[in-house]
Amino acid sequence: MEAKIIDGKDLSNRLREDIKSRVEKLKQNGIIPGLAVILVGNDPASAVYVRNKERACNGVGIYSRVIKLDENTSQEALLEYIYRLNVDETIHGILVQLPLPPQIDPNAVINAIDPAKDVDGFHPVNMGRLVIGEECFEPCTPKGIIRLIQETGQPIAGKHAVVIGRSNIVGKPVALMLLRHNATVTLCHSKTANLREIARQADILVVAVGRPNLVDSSFIKQGAIVIDVGINRVDDKLVGDVNFQDACHVAGWITPVPGGVGPMTITMLLENTVLAAERKWV
Ligand code: GUN
Repeated sequence: MEAKIIDGKDLSNRLREDIKSRVEKLKQNGIIPGLAVILVGNDPASAVYVRNKERACNGVGIYSRVIKLDENTSQEALLEYIYRLNVDETIHGILVQLPLPPQIDPNAVINAIDPAKDVDGFHPVNMGRLVIGEECFEPCTPKGIIRLIQETGQPIAGKHAVVIGRSNIVGKPVALMLLRHNATVTLCHSKTANLREIARQADILVVAVGRPNLVDSSFIKQGAIVIDVGINRVDDKLVGDVNFQDACHVAGWITPVPGGVGPMTITMLLENTVLAAERKWV
């Protein structure tokens, strides 16, 4: 049996229609949701991500302000921009594109963002709220992953979810969110012993390591839901952390790369920005 594809592009397009109508409703009440994106330096990949975010905002009617700063910008100068955006009434969401140049401490920058405008969900207040199960901004990639799993129509509650990768941006928060949905969660990382055996027990397997083709069919339980978060460039081609062709023979559902998790991340950023504007309004 071949796995069913979970189409992140198609789901994204459908969700963006709903976001558009929420933006329209806000506008009818005199509020234009606004997102500020700060890009420091000349990293080409970051420049592409920021341009895609700007385009996506335009596509759903969100006001976007991109602030491009020089590679040599000091931490103090960057913090000053953030403080100004924190009190700017036209801006509901603030995102500082990572990674930052070495003279800037990313934690100091994230801590400076008003948690009510932290649409990335990286601020310790939002992370802490996620841990204790309070309302918060959920980080965009993990939030998109949960939606992709829900798209299969399979319940998350009671399932064994195995997450490979413990980053602050994906692995840790997605493990917490799966727990919040009542999965039994195992969080694996580079020091995990018997990774393959643990992965093979998963009803839901989330792979977020950044190593091309780390996971093949021998890591996958028959019929499992497999979410591939990896985006790796190999010989000018984008591949995930999962060997897609091989995994398809065993998995029940699988996300492709590209076209799986990727499109969902920006869509969840748009959704969080609208949420920030709606929360301010109500
Ligand atoms: N760089 C790579 N992914 C992200 C993300 O989700 N948010 C921010 N701010 N920077 C990133």
